[in-house]
Formats: sequence, structure tokens, C-alpha cells
Amino acid sequence: MPSDPYGYWRPRPETAADIPAVRRIHLAAFEAAEEADLVDALRRDPPAWLPGLSYVADAPDGTPAAHALLTRCYVGEVPAVALAPCAVLPGHQKSGAGSAVIRALPAAARAAGERTALVLGHPSYYPRFGFVPAASRYGIQPPQPWPDDAFLALSLDDSIPPRGTVRYAAAFGID
Ligand SMILES: CC(C)(COP(=O)(O)OP(=O)(O)OC[C@H]1O[C@@H](n2cnc3c(N)ncnc32)[C@H](O)[C@@H]1OP(=O)(O)O)[C@@H](O)C(=O)NCCC(=O)NCCS
Repeated sequence: MPSDPYGYWRPRPETAADIPAVRRIHLAAFEAAEEADLVDALRRDPPAWLPGLSYVADAPDGTPAAHALLTRCYVGEVPAVALAPCAVLPGHQKSGAGSAVIRALPAAARAAGERTALVLGHPSYYPRFGFVPAASRYGIQPPQPWPDDAFLALSLDDSIPPRGTVRYAAAFGID
């Protein structure tokens, strides 16, 4: 096993040159184009898009195999970041690429001064990165009645996050 915390994968911020590859990753990982379109819509939305917080993980040959990003959301009136969507090329899934980007993003967000990250995701996957149930643990309510074990929060600075209801960027279409 590699001793590097990211294994063989090299997480890094996306560049303009990565945009087509990022789209291909989402189109391949999901059954529909919804997530690929969502990423493009978020990229066109300056209040939502957080430069430097959209990450790819390169395979050893230098091609991006995974992508995930954090965009602006709010807990009540307090800024936070939402992790979504995350995708890995099918041929590279379950080999640590997703973990590499998902581990790298909170570190980058912390460095950028962000304090709270949220994710709606697989209950068996995200807790390994430190995410805990947002509503029952912190009083952070989802914008819709999502299951407690699927709507998760991560304090990036070890402070107790703000309480309130989460508002996602408009591109998510969540009211
Ligand atoms: C979910 C996803 C991002 C995980 O990335 P990955 O690189 O495949 O996963 P990793 O190699 O980092 O981690 C492997 C672990 O993730 C788990 N995992 C992978 N896909 C999963 C899924 N859909 N649901 C739950 N757990 C999953 C594996 O079972 C494995 O668990 P283990 O370590 O206990 O054996 C990736 O598989 C993917 O793109 N899936 C399709 C799109 C998707 O569902 N995206 C997430 C919603 S935004």
C-alpha cells in the first residue's frame, strides 16, 4: 500500500483545462446528465462558485479520474460550504480516488477560512471523513426532509456549527 494519505491519487484544484474532463467524469459516473449540468451551472454562478474549492484527483498517468467540489450555502444567514456532487470514473471507482478528493477539500476549505461543510450522501461513506448527522448532532436542518443519517455536517475548525436551516445555491433547485 502507498504510504501517501491520498494513495496513488493526486488531488488538486481544477484548472480551466480540466473542465471537459470534469464533465466527462460526471456523465460517466451518473446515469443522467443532471450532475454534469449542475457542475457547469455552479461554475457559471459567481456567488455559489468558490474558486480553488473544485478538486480533481489525477490518476498516476496524469488524467483526472475523480471530481468533487464545495459551493456556497448558508446555515440560516451564516455561510457554509456544500459538498456536491462527487464522482469517479467507473473504471476507477472503489480505489480511493473519491476519498482523495473528499479528504483534500476540507483541508482546502479550512485554509480558505470556511467553518462548516455539509453533504447529502451515502450514510455508509461520508462518516469516514468525519461527517456526522447534521440535524441530530448540530441542529442544522436540511431544506427538505432528508434522512438524518444522510444529511451530514463537518466542522472544519472544531467549533460548534451554527444552528439553522440550510439554503443551497439556486442551481441545485432545492427549495
Ligand atoms: C461514490 C463515489 C464518489 C465514491 O468514490 P470511490 O473512489 O469509488 O470510493 P473510494 O475508493 O474512495 O472508497 C471506497 C468505499 O466507498 C464505498 N462506496 C463506493 N460507492 C458507494 C456508494 N454508491 N454508496 C456507498 N458506499 C460506496 C465502497 O463500498 C468502499 O467502502 P469500503 O472502504 O468500506 O470498502 C464513486 O463511487 C462514484 O462516483 N459513484 C457514482 C456516483 C455517486 O454515487 N456519487 C455520490 C453522490 S454525489
